[in-house]
Amino acid sequence: MKIAGTGSVLPKKVVTNDMLSEFLETSDEWITTRTGVKSRHVISDEKLEDMAIEAANKALENAGMTAAELDFIICSNVVNEYITPQLSCIIQGGIGATCPCIDINCACAGFIFALDVAESHYKAGKVKNVLIVCAEEPTRMTDWTDRRTCVLFGDGAGAAVLTPGDNIKDVKLSSASATDKLWQYRTLQPTPYVNKEEIDVPLQMKGQDVFKFAVKAASKDISRALEASGVSTDEVDHYLLHQANIRIIDTIRHFLGQPEEKFPVNIHDHGNSSSSCCPILLDECNRKGLFKEGDKIVLSAFGAGFVSGAAVLEW
Ligand code: UT7
Repeated sequence: MKIAGTGSVLPKKVVTNDMLSEFLETSDEWITTRTGVKSRHVISDEKLEDMAIEAANKALENAGMTAAELDFIICSNVVNEYITPQLSCIIQGGIGATCPCIDINCACAGFIFALDVAESHYKAGKVKNVLIVCAEEPTRMTDWTDRRTCVLFGDGAGAAVLTPGDNIKDVKLSSASATDKLWQYRTLQPTPYVNKEEIDVPLQMKGQDVFKFAVKAASKDISRALEASGVSTDEVDHYLLHQANIRIIDTIRHFLGQPEEKFPVNIHDHGNSSSSCCPILLDECNRKGLFKEGDKIVLSAFGAGFVSGAAVLEW
C-alpha cells in the first residue's frame, strides 16, 4: 500500500500558555521548557465527528478519489460523545461512503496500529482503497485543574487515504500492559445487579514513567522497523514522531544520532492530540511540499496501554 492523500483539521480556539496561567498555577516558562508546547487548539463549539469528516474529505480530495471508491474505513479514537455507534460509521455517513468500517482505540499510537490493520487487509487481497481517520479530543478527558496533564493536550483530526503500492516498507507494533501509568475511568449506567461504587476519574498519568517508556519503546520500534526494511538511520529523510513532548523527541533523536532538521514538529502550537498527531503532522509536511518522491519517512508513536509502533515508508 501507499499513502495517496492526506488531510487534517484543527479546532479554531487557540489556548496559549499565558491563558492557562490565568487559572492554573503554571507558567509559559515551565510549559515551554518542560514540554515544548506554547499553545494548543482546543475544541469549543465544534463537534469531533464534523472535524473527522472534514479531515477525511480533505484527504480524499488530496488523493483525487471519491468516497464511493473506498473499500474500508479505519477510525482511531479514544473518546468522543458516542459510546455507540462507532465514530467510523458516523464518518462513513458524513462523507457518503458505503464500505465497511471499524474503530480502534490504541491511544496515541492509533495511526500506526491502523496502518498495520490496513496492511493485513491489503495482504489478504480484500481492499484497494482504505481511509484512515484519527480524530481525538483529549482536552475532554483531562481535569482542567490538574496542571500536570491539561497543559499537554490539544485536539484535532488527521486522515490518510491508502491505495495499492509498495511504499509502506514495514510496520512494527508493541504492547506492554501498564494500567497504573496512564488511564481514565468513566461511569457506566447503574443496573440493579452492580454493587461496586461507580467512579468517574479524569485522565491520570505518571509522567516520568510514561516519558521513560516512550523513549525506550520508540527507539526500539524505529530500530526494528528500519532493520526489517533494510534502511539505515542515515538514509531516512524525515522522522515524524508523536508530538507528546519536545524533550522526548530530542532524546529519541540523540539515540538515533540524527540532525534536528530531519524531525519536523508542530508540538509548539498543537500540543499532544493523541493519535491525530501523526496524520496531522504528515498532512502539514505533505502540503508544505516537504516530501519528495522516494523520500524515506519514519512514523513513530506511543501511548496509554502501553502501546507503541513505528512504520517506515517511501513517499
Ligand atoms: O501521549 C503520551 C502522553 N504523555 C506523555 O508523553 C507524557 C510524558 N511525560 C512528560 O512529558 C513529563 O513527565 C511531564 C511534562 C508530564 C512532566 O515533566 P517532568 O519534567 O517529568 O516534571 P515532574 O512531573 O517531575 O514535575 C516537576 C515539578 C513538580 O513540582 P515539585 O513536586 O518538584 O514541587 C510538579 O508539581 O513540576 C511541577 N509541575 C508543574 N509546574 C508548573 C507539574 N506540572 C506543572 C505545570 N506548571 N504545568
